[in-house]
Amino acid sequence: MKKEPKILRPQINGTFQPFSVDGIRIGYFTVIEEVDCTELLILKVFKRFRDKGYGSKIIQEVVNQFHKKTISLYVRRENKIAIHLYFKHGFWFDNTYKDENKYKMVYNQNIIK
Ligand SMILES: CC(C)(COP(=O)(O)OP(=O)(O)OC[C@H]1O[C@@H](n2cnc3c(N)ncnc32)[C@H](O)[C@@H]1OP(=O)(O)O)[C@@H](O)C(=O)NCCC(=O)NCCS
Repeated sequence: MKKEPKILRPQINGTFQPFSVDGIRIGYFTVIEEVDCTELLILKVFKRFRDKGYGSKIIQEVVNQFHKKTISLYVRRENKIAIHLYFKHGFWFDNTYKDENKYKMVYNQNIIK
């Protein structure tokens, strides 16, 4: 039996969202929705489509869909591209989170910047 590609498998407890442009699968993201917050768990643009603005588009889509609650995520400290993009779209570091490998970033429309 043919195995389903990993990316098509829905995440447990999460909302799996493929991201396509003109019918072509570009990447995907996964969020976990809680009562008062949303966590962006996975964000991925397939390699051949990177650096064309699709990552930005996906983050904007997540913000548009979930901005009424605080959106949080964890990103590895060396992931400069992702951090740049999250900043660009209004995410800030949660400085109360301490981990030597990861940052926690949050988007909250009520934060006065
Ligand atoms: C992070 C990721 C989603 C970005 O997707 P993408 O489609 O390439 O993103 P975009 O094309 O919208 O934007 C790339 C941005 O990074 C910038 N960039 C490129 N190389 C960079 C670098 N070395 N350092 C900092 N920024 C960089 C580009 O200039 C661009 O910014 P701009 O829009 O201000 O010009 C993609 O690289 C990916 O799927 N990575 C693997 C999974 C991952 O790391 N996910 C995030 C986990 S939290």
